[in-house]
Amino acid sequence: MCGIIGFTGGREAAPVLLEGLKKLEYRGYDSAGIAVAGGGRLTMVKTSGKIENLCKKVESTEISGKTGIGHTRWATHGAPNDTNAHPHMSPDGRFAIVHNGIIENFAELREELIAGGAEFLSETDTEVVVHLLSRYYDGDFKKALMKTVARLEGTYAIGAICSECPESVFVTKVFNPMIVGVGIGENFFASDVTALVSHTKNVIYLDDGELAELTPEGVTIYDATGKEIQKKVSRIMWDMEAAEKGGYDHFMLKEIMEQPHALKSAIDPRVKNGKAALSELCLSDEALRGINHIIITACGSAYYAGCAGKYTIEKLTRIPVSVELASELRYSDPIVDEHTLLIVLSQSGETLDTICAMRELKARGVSTVAIVNVVGSTIAKLADSVIYTYAGPEIAVATTKGYTTQVAVLYLFAVYMAEKIGKIDDAEAKRLTGEILQIPSNIQRAIDLNPQLPELAKKYHSNSSLFFIGRNVDYAVALESSLKMKEISYIHSEAYAAGELKHGTIALISENRLVIAIASYEELFDKMMSNIKEVKARGAKVLGVAREDMKKIVAEADDVIFVPNADPLFMVPSEIIPLQLLAYYVARENGCDIDKPRNLAKSVTVE
Ligand code: AGP
Repeated sequence: MCGIIGFTGGREAAPVLLEGLKKLEYRGYDSAGIAVAGGGRLTMVKTSGKIENLCKKVESTEISGKTGIGHTRWATHGAPNDTNAHPHMSPDGRFAIVHNGIIENFAELREELIAGGAEFLSETDTEVVVHLLSRYYDGDFKKALMKTVARLEGTYAIGAICSECPESVFVTKVFNPMIVGVGIGENFFASDVTALVSHTKNVIYLDDGELAELTPEGVTIYDATGKEIQKKVSRIMWDMEAAEKGGYDHFMLKEIMEQPHALKSAIDPRVKNGKAALSELCLSDEALRGINHIIITACGSAYYAGCAGKYTIEKLTRIPVSVELASELRYSDPIVDEHTLLIVLSQSGETLDTICAMRELKARGVSTVAIVNVVGSTIAKLADSVIYTYAGPEIAVATTKGYTTQVAVLYLFAVYMAEKIGKIDDAEAKRLTGEILQIPSNIQRAIDLNPQLPELAKKYHSNSSLFFIGRNVDYAVALESSLKMKEISYIHSEAYAAGELKHGTIALISENRLVIAIASYEELFDKMMSNIKEVKARGAKVLGVAREDMKKIVAEADDVIFVPNADPLFMVPSEIIPLQLLAYYVARENGCDIDKPRNLAKSVTVE
């Protein structure tokens, strides 16, 4: 998704902006640019391609000023070229803006402005903003910006500078995230904290409709009516090296390896007196007892985390759980009521499909619980209850610790809810919680159990397509494993319920087709062994995944990955580890851009 940044202070703005844009690269982009106010004018430099291209262009440009804005663009309207790159500048050079989001009514605004004589240079929805600013500006830039955004429908985080107030940088937002960084003699804004935290850990989370004016001296915030308001300054609890690679070749590998720590951060604060305790859940015991249907909604890996958590929640609470893709749920006219509980999963807390599905169900009177990683994110603020996963910053586009911490929090919810509604007693709640507390060490064991993974990757990396099969909770693991493989190694793969193969898809099994058979779920292990025989009889190569005490699989599979013995109710976070690593090593063999896969963004804030 697009990333935006702004700065004003006592030093040259351009280097600060370029450094900040580099920290936003992981969000995925295809063009970038900056604009700086100084010497009574605005200077803008922008280009398609990577930040390196932008740095080269800036080096060969006369650009000076201590206030500026920057942007990395993930194209939605118009090709990724120099003209469509942000910032966009008004024809008279007085205003420059950067925008993250989508202006739904840009077509009619563009028509109205052209009818009024405006000449557009780009194909973007964003350019309507600079022409509206020109129309409404009468010397008071803040007022002109408020009038402008009042005309916009859709989602936006907009940063703006004006040549006539060269010390000020302005920012306003609806839906898309925006954080203000409060420094000493300098102030910042950015789409997320990774672009700020090396300068300041004091941040203000802007809410929808608010507008901030930043000068070197301070930050003034106005509500949607233009009234000045006071906002809480929060403290970021992690620092830049937490978001740096820490000696690993890729953020993804770092984030896989730090999962034992991440899971401890997610679990430990929610265990009191040896039992799961979700103090963040703002639902009374009576309300919990009134729940007769749970819907989990999310996108991508977060959806697959829901598929994994469903088994444990249903097993312990005996409440039906349906896991719904957010992009489908929002249009499905869902059958819900006050006895339905919606659990929303999101690492970024900014996924637009998930936000819209959540809004739809809130409007139907459904209680919402968000399980998110990014503090102060849109989904966190929209929810009735929010349970942070505390995984720390996740930079790689392909989620790993974001997924496993979501699953772990779902486990805690399952135990907590089961005890609250009387399905398990205090002793059982303590026993089950003890199993959850084992997860971090199970993950470490899963990492240590499989030193052969790089070799396996060398053996299998050139497959054109492959299958992940599994049953029950192993099918949920197959879904996430398949997505990991696809999104970073670009190998086509399908996840299939193993029992379904014979109903058609087995026609695709041919000589040397790779099938990754996930067979850790003990109750159905023998069924999986039959499935392995089935596909092998048709020429497939089988990479088996099984618990370390299931040695029988060695006789049937061509290769085996072992995972730690863990309670079947709580084994997904350790079982997925070698499959995350397999995808990583295969992608490395294929020379892929592991942290920033093609066409993907870290947070999908468009529909
Ligand atoms: C996961 O590896 C993908 N990058 C993607 O599927 C992601 O899980 C999905 O876009 C949801 O993102 P969220 O958790 O931030 O809402």
